[in-house]
Amino acid sequence: MYKIAVAGTGYVGLVAGVCFAEVGHHVSCVDIDEDKVKLMKSGISPIFETGLEDLMQKNYNAGTIDYTTDYKSVYKDADAIFIGVGTPEQPDGSANLSYIATVARQIAESVEKDCLVVVKSTVPVGTNDKVEQFIQDFLVSDVKVEVASNPEFLAQGSAVHDTLQAERIIIGTESKWAEERLMKIYEPFKLPIVSVNRRSAEMIKYASNDFLALKISYMNDIANLCELVGADVQDVAKGMSYDARIGNKFLNAGIGYGGSCFPKDTKALEYIAKQNGYELKTVKAAIDVNNKQKTMLYKKASKRLITFNGLKVAVLGLTFKPGTDDLREAASLENVPLLLEQGADIYAYDPVGAANFAKVHPEDKNGKGTITYVSNVEHALEDANVCFIFTEWGEVKAVTPENYKKLMRTPLVYDGRNIYDVEQMQEVGVEYHSIGRQP
Ligand code: UGA
Repeated sequence: MYKIAVAGTGYVGLVAGVCFAEVGHHVSCVDIDEDKVKLMKSGISPIFETGLEDLMQKNYNAGTIDYTTDYKSVYKDADAIFIGVGTPEQPDGSANLSYIATVARQIAESVEKDCLVVVKSTVPVGTNDKVEQFIQDFLVSDVKVEVASNPEFLAQGSAVHDTLQAERIIIGTESKWAEERLMKIYEPFKLPIVSVNRRSAEMIKYASNDFLALKISYMNDIANLCELVGADVQDVAKGMSYDARIGNKFLNAGIGYGGSCFPKDTKALEYIAKQNGYELKTVKAAIDVNNKQKTMLYKKASKRLITFNGLKVAVLGLTFKPGTDDLREAASLENVPLLLEQGADIYAYDPVGAANFAKVHPEDKNGKGTITYVSNVEHALEDANVCFIFTEWGEVKAVTPENYKKLMRTPLVYDGRNIYDVEQMQEVGVEYHSIGRQP
């Protein structure tokens, strides 16, 4: 078993660290945030992720995982250091690599024995060559340090499962030594490993995420066309899904992809292509479709209603998908300001994302409209003139067509996640608009 350090305790770093501990390695997670470290030591996860807190507590009590801000003490004798810090998008679409650079320099100044540095963060192709050079330039001790690429494929909401039962582990190395060490670290997971060179590993991450983003945008494009020609996108997706070459996942049309990954990684790959004198037309199209799709519901509702001014608007779901409190690139963030600008009185419900949303849109400061955060769906729907569904939380799916009819002043529903059966909604007297289906 290895002594592993993990730099960064966000989704990627923390989940990786906990899962390494779970399979028997000895793990130290490093973060610059003292409060966060204290929180994790007390067994509390700084992120909302199913099953994570249990594993944190179990492994902390067993002494297989620890958390610290003191990177030097951890890096100096680690067998491998995994970097899982953020690579946020910059205004031009490129990835900000400053956090990676900081960690690389700290590693160079701390290591005292041969060590494999493994980059899990999503980085532009070729970055890890530079990280290795950067570490060599600042290296203080006379030891071997090599850099490997090991992109992460977990999805928020199912992060622990996606790591412990991953469909594949991608490792990108430039030497037998690095390849063997990383293979050994992953051996206890008993999962398929694809070993390639560093640049291909970096590319696999972007190519995978962008393919999925493209798949969603394609279905959203088809959905918009379905509406115009009288077809139903869910039936179309079902028919397509029986073809094993297409598969049955990621065919759900809706209000566009959000989150911290697809929006960022599509723009980053487009940027990388541009830097290399190539126009990545397919990915660019996916980005364009997604940008338009996010406000599709609002546009539909605007055509149907004269104004939102003074209307009670129920908003169900704020996060970019269920199972997370993350709001990054969520469609709600685009639609709510438009509604507020129009003078709507919004009653918003989200089982875990409301507190984060309130930081962006506090209850007391909203220009023309108002926003109130409520703790149950019924409260949001009571007396509402119109309802928008942005996230398919279980609590939202549990609302029956009859509930809308009974609770709302005008049973007018705009569903961005195609939760309900169109006919069923019509039967109970709800005016129901969704994506890619006939009203
Ligand atoms: C995504 C990938 O699924 C992971 O494999 C990857 O590791 C991760 O990015 C990353 O790069 O870190 P995530 O962003 O957590 O994971 O969430 P997804 O479940 O992929 O959903 C992304 C967005 O696509 C959500 O807004 C979701 O509602 C939307 N989506 C997904 C659709 O609109 N339709 C679908 O059929 C599927």
